[in-house]
Amino acid sequence: MRVDRLAALADEIVDHRFRGLPPDASGQRVGALASAGRDLYAGGFTTPVLALSREHLDHNLRQLENFTSRHGLSFAPHGKTCMAPQLFARQLAHGAWGITVAVPHQARVCREFGVQRIFLANELVDAAALRWLSGELDADPDFQFVCYVDSPAGVTLMDRALRDAGGTRPVDVVVELAAGDEARTGARDEATCAAVAEAVAAADTLRLVGVAGYEGEVPRADSERVAAWLRRLTALATDFDAAGRFGPDVEEIVLSAGGSAWFDTVAEVFEQLPELSRPVRKLLRSGAYVSHDEGHYEELTPFNRVPEEGELRSACTLWAQVVSRPTPRQAFLNAGKRDAAHDLHLPRARTVRPADGGAERPAEGITVTKLSDQHAWLETTEDAELAVGDWVGLGMSHPCTIFDKWQLIPLVEPDGTVSDLIRTFF
Ligand SMILES: Cc1ncc(COP(=O)(O)O)c(C=O)c1O
Repeated sequence: MRVDRLAALADEIVDHRFRGLPPDASGQRVGALASAGRDLYAGGFTTPVLALSREHLDHNLRQLENFTSRHGLSFAPHGKTCMAPQLFARQLAHGAWGITVAVPHQARVCREFGVQRIFLANELVDAAALRWLSGELDADPDFQFVCYVDSPAGVTLMDRALRDAGGTRPVDVVVELAAGDEARTGARDEATCAAVAEAVAAADTLRLVGVAGYEGEVPRADSERVAAWLRRLTALATDFDAAGRFGPDVEEIVLSAGGSAWFDTVAEVFEQLPELSRPVRKLLRSGAYVSHDEGHYEELTPFNRVPEEGELRSACTLWAQVVSRPTPRQAFLNAGKRDAAHDLHLPRARTVRPADGGAERPAEGITVTKLSDQHAWLETTEDAELAVGDWVGLGMSHPCTIFDKWQLIPLVEPDGTVSDLIRTFF
């Protein structure tokens, strides 16, 4: 990665653009605030503020590093989850091969920070974006880029745009097999996949390097259905190879699947891939694992099925403050839909830090029942201890909709010290 550009993030000025940061640090550089060793709870940070646990983050990075290396998988974590180049750098330092993205803007953020291998898990038919990509490929012979194709029509659009761009390097593509007839993108059957491959073969601007898909979209997913679809994907790779669809200049075949819900099944099925005519890069693309969560992925993580392989820890806490306690059964926090992930589940009250500086305690008898734009509605038992001014730590579900609400996130040590600030680019 570009260490100069990562380092330059420390030069940004802390000011009103960034929620939750100490008003008395306004005008300072991010690097100065990060090295000041302020305490998250008593160091002038204002509520609501999202905190990222450095310890849990590092733990999760190690878990997927270990899992992928144990199972012979390459790893391109999905960058759309956090869109934080500092976290991309940590993922790469923990053995990732590259970064996955969903849309051209995310690829641009990666390039700005010097990511050398990008897997765009989508068809890319935007002529302006393809012109940019073509320029990036020509400017840097070491830049590797792969994206999906799922239709001859898409191939035609890509080819036309890339010809107009006049670049010299072809764009590497993988044919996307849909995870079922009612699934999201992807060619619905193997015959269509073959037709897409034929279209790629006829386009000088593209080079077929593999096959891919997303088992997270298998309808009514369970281990059986996911494994069955993954076997179709590996069979497609085998058939394409046997049919000579990968050109002589393709040094490795790319086989990619895998989010954060089924990486055990992906590993199992990919391990059974027969030998192909050249090495195969088996690329896993989990993204949500990086912070994990309390809710969706807590329920779905493969480590629930294979606990001996590891476990993930929820790394994000949204700290909000009680601004009203109108009745013994009601309380309101100053954080709402603007601040908290809420698309899959409501946040969960986890801990309370009393306003008077007393010890942190579990949020017993406190339930989030609703979110307004700027408020969380709490229902409490009559004997629940909770007072105006108390800070409540909320756990949240679905990492992808946590990070996108925060542009500069304190990274917090176990003792509460803020040791860094993580910049996101959504
Ligand atoms: C195509 C694709 N690959 C990988 C992922 C990463 O999955 P997860 O968010 O479960 O880690 C996603 C997530 O939506 C995706 O759409």
